[in-house]
Amino acid sequence: MPGDLMPLVSRAVSESSPLAIARGEGFPGRRLRRLRRTETMRRMVRETRLSVDQFIYPLFIAETVSQPQEIASMPGQYQWSVNGLEREIESIVTLGIPAVLLFGIPAEKDELGSQAYHPEGIVQQAIRKIKALAPNLVVITDVCFCEYTSHGHCGVVVNGEVQNDATLRLLAQEALSHAEAGADIVAPSDMMDGRVGAIRATLDEHGFSQTPILAYSAKYASGFYGPFREAAESAPQFGDRRAYQMDPPNAREALREIALDVQEGADMIMVKPALAYLDVLTRAREEFDLPLAAYNVSGEYAMVKAAARNGWIDERRITMEILTSIARAGADLIITYHAKDAASWLSER
Ligand code: PBG
Repeated sequence: MPGDLMPLVSRAVSESSPLAIARGEGFPGRRLRRLRRTETMRRMVRETRLSVDQFIYPLFIAETVSQPQEIASMPGQYQWSVNGLEREIESIVTLGIPAVLLFGIPAEKDELGSQAYHPEGIVQQAIRKIKALAPNLVVITDVCFCEYTSHGHCGVVVNGEVQNDATLRLLAQEALSHAEAGADIVAPSDMMDGRVGAIRATLDEHGFSQTPILAYSAKYASGFYGPFREAAESAPQFGDRRAYQMDPPNAREALREIALDVQEGADMIMVKPALAYLDVLTRAREEFDLPLAAYNVSGEYAMVKAAARNGWIDERRITMEILTSIARAGADLIITYHAKDAASWLSER
């Protein structure tokens, strides 16, 4: 220690002597650094534990590719063909990841998104293939229309507006066709009012009362979906999604959205995106007992990848910090493009 600091230090020590402050009521009796001294001790008192059991890995299945096609804005993520899935599924299973979330990119799009509920649609084929390859891997399907419609909106469009009630019937049909193909869980992401109830009723009527619904309950109209729309070829051809997805400044409204989904029969709820909405996640955790998922979306992933590629951040450290923060905020499940990397890092420790 430099000599000129010594008088300062000894004065600080004598002013905070044990006699001056009652023991046990704060410094110097209380020293929170005691439990931070060694890695082993830190490990013992850690409040949040990340586990591979929490991860859900999104997969893009495209009818338009025969070889895996890397997505430019999402390094390490690919559009897969149904036949090219084998090794990818094997590596997901080997890493211990319990579930995948499927998105389909059809060859043909039309006004009503009819490939979304076609029994031989791209997602339906992918579900059957994955269940044959790995029967215990949980297959969750994204139930929405934006990847399937020529206009890129999440429902039926009349006079430039997405029609809520007309969309419900088609969404229910889409969810049913996923269940018929073997999906374990269906996850509506369209943000139409009443969709959870409509899907629940249709599934029940057709013998799928055992198929859970993971509702994208609080899904915001977010700039963080940019890279996904490239990956899923689902950008709206006119306008935006602000008339159905939530307005980012609203948190109380998110709780109302979740409450309605729970009332309509959701088995699990979701907040999306994750990082700019950790407060919403925490409030959802406090108010609801259902399993709560967070979607660590494409833009969040792309920012980490871009900065890491530039050597500006430590990818592993930041990824684990981000995933831990999502769990700490209250998520039980984390949908993340980092799932494979994180699973392998967790298994190293
Ligand atoms: C809609 C859907 C979107 C995402 C998941 N489901 C995009 C959107 O609403 O525009 C975004 C996921 C991501 O950004 O990673 N089917």
